[in-house]
Amino acid sequence: AIQRTFSIIKPDATKRNLTGAINAKIEAAGLRIIAQKRIHMTQKQAETFYGVHKDRPFFGELVEFMISEPVVVQVLEGENAIKAYRDVMGATNPADADEGTIRKEFAQSVGENSVHGSDAPETAAEEIAYFFSGLELVG
Ligand code: CMP
Repeated sequence: AIQRTFSIIKPDATKRNLTGAINAKIEAAGLRIIAQKRIHMTQKQAETFYGVHKDRPFFGELVEFMISEPVVVQVLEGENAIKAYRDVMGATNPADADEGTIRKEFAQSVGENSVHGSDAPETAAEEIAYFFSGLELVG
């Protein structure tokens, strides 16, 4: 079925001017970018977005990283978009990522891993609604 997923091009990637290279990988995987904007997240936004990880030891570091530089937030649409995007992102830790994936090619470490993608339909809907209004999604 056609699905939507939420994506973030993270600070390590925007800083190295990799937005276009990552978008090329997304589009080559058959996903359409139906909404996109560059923002500088506030600490509150990052803490809320990553709230599910608030008790993890890396939470503070994760929030600091996500607000260190601008990010690009996106909505991607396509057949099985959630899994399709996770497949092209590759494993969270770039050391474990398959050849040809975004993280294998561009990510620097488990924290500075270039992209985020939703893990399930419910989280995709929540994450999209957190950053975009319905009018901004142009399928
Ligand atoms: P993401 O998919 O954006 O969701 C949570 C993020 O936490 C994850 O990608 C990683 O970038 C980050 N993360 C996971 N494990 C660690 C870790 N051990 N140290 C720092 N960041 C981590």
